[in-house]
Amino acid sequence: MSERVTQILVLMRAMIVEFKDVDPISERRNRATHLLAEEWGIKPATILDKYTRQLGINARKFDDLLMRLFEKKDSELLERLRQYGDNKDQVAINEFERELFPAPEVKLAPSILSADFARLGEQVAEATRAGADYIHVDVMDGHFVPNITIGAPVVAAIRSYTNLPLDVHLMIETPEHQIDQFADAGADIITVHIEACSHIHRVVQKIKELGVKAGVSLNPGTPLDTLNEVLPSLDLVLVMTVNPGFGGQTFIEGMLDKIVHLRAELDKKGLAAELEVDGGINAEVAPKVVQAGGRVLVAGAAVFQSGQTVADALAKIRASLG
Ligand code: DX5
Ligand code: ZN
Repeated sequence: MSERVTQILVLMRAMIVEFKDVDPISERRNRATHLLAEEWGIKPATILDKYTRQLGINARKFDDLLMRLFEKKDSELLERLRQYGDNKDQVAINEFERELFPAPEVKLAPSILSADFARLGEQVAEATRAGADYIHVDVMDGHFVPNITIGAPVVAAIRSYTNLPLDVHLMIETPEHQIDQFADAGADIITVHIEACSHIHRVVQKIKELGVKAGVSLNPGTPLDTLNEVLPSLDLVLVMTVNPGFGGQTFIEGMLDKIVHLRAELDKKGLAAELEVDGGINAEVAPKVVQAGGRVLVAGAAVFQSGQTVADALAKIRASLG
């Protein structure tokens, strides 16, 4: 965190001192970027890319952040920069860091795939009491993925064990044939795989017409730009960080970059779709996923097969996010 703050403070210092009277803020940012580029002997574009990527925000958000900071009096800012530079007042520095990078709201969605199916209702209730935000339900058909799991009757059966949104992840071929049943069973979010739909636009519309939130999921091998045309209509995008079909697999680190790009795309276009990440998430991986831009974390094995209680397992993931 300190590394990121140091970078932004170097830029802000330049902005305050050299370009105090320049408007608008984006122009002030441009000039400061050029100044630093000259000083550091690198290209301005490299600097902006470095900030936006490492800060996990896009240029517009960066400007918003600076605008917020510039609403404060310059003298107050300079005093806080000085404290930071002197590295004396750690409490003030921590507070400043929190102000610069407020923690995003993160939802946890335990996946019942790894729960004890013989007492599924109880396990759903347990996850609910433990502070889960969604209950993630993995539906597999033995075609799209090798396994077969559960269908709409099971969704209807667990509906009475929780008031949380049921987040139904359909890993099935031609999901359009099943959507009505899952909506009737009480699904709040229905996510289909883009690889399983020839007419993804129609499928998304159908989910929404049923009054259910619509999500689209991408396998690890599917590029982000396949989403372009439907992204504005989506309530949720689910990035798979394992190849779907089984619980308890290892998180694919290379997917972090995909999450970063999707986060940037959603922010750039001002889209509100939730960015959910699914596969291999535990307390070690969770902070990286959030740093990359994930906001709903699915976890199966780490919640239901960790050797701890569901409450302790969820608390451990929550605590890892700081
Ligand atoms: C994988 C499923 C996941 C799975 C996640 O095909 O979509 O939701 O349950 O389980 P873990 O967290 O164990 O990888
Ligand atoms: Zn899932």
